[in-house]
Amino acid sequence: MEKFYSQLLENNKEWARATVEKDPTFFEELSKIQNPPVFWIGCADSRVPANQIVGAKPGDVFVHRNIANMVVHSDMNMLSVLDYAVTVLKVKHVVVCGHYGCGGVATAMSNKHVGIVDNWISHIKDSYRFHKKELDAIEDYQARYDRFVELNVKEQVLNLAETFIIQKAWSEGVPVHIHGWAYSLTTGLVNDLDCTIKNNEMLRELDRFDI
Ligand code: CO
Repeated sequence: MEKFYSQLLENNKEWARATVEKDPTFFEELSKIQNPPVFWIGCADSRVPANQIVGAKPGDVFVHRNIANMVVHSDMNMLSVLDYAVTVLKVKHVVVCGHYGCGGVATAMSNKHVGIVDNWISHIKDSYRFHKKELDAIEDYQARYDRFVELNVKEQVLNLAETFIIQKAWSEGVPVHIHGWAYSLTTGLVNDLDCTIKNNEMLRELDRFDI
């Protein structure tokens, strides 16, 4: 068997052993219930592992990942995970974590045709269109790329706030906060984009549902 692959299973045995050694009831306790305070929507990129970069333990973070951390209103997968996280698990924070150097975002800034993923990338291109004036004015490609990563995250935060799921939670007094972050692959640091939405008063009038 390929060495890297078989090593993964060895690593798992060692991790489980060491975890029990440190805390004998760790798995037993965790298997009873999950009560994560955070729901994470991140990029599928292998270099942005949700739990690891924020030092979270198993049970801390409910995770959904896709190409370029998108919140697409007709994506049943995302909506199902979001609804479970907010309505059932009652998470306190939803974090959209994008990252600089995102391949999905770079593709959206190009005319590249990849295949079926083109349809997904089109949603990212929409984010560009919403901020075309600001982005087109940035001459330096790297600076424009970085800014687009940030603006795309902000759009997804807004997309979340526009969902019935989030607005229903707010209307019931559930204090769920939606945050936008951009992670740097080169420093390992998170840039809090300071675009937190806490209630529907922060939305355009037209985006507020009568609930
Ligand atoms: Co990415």
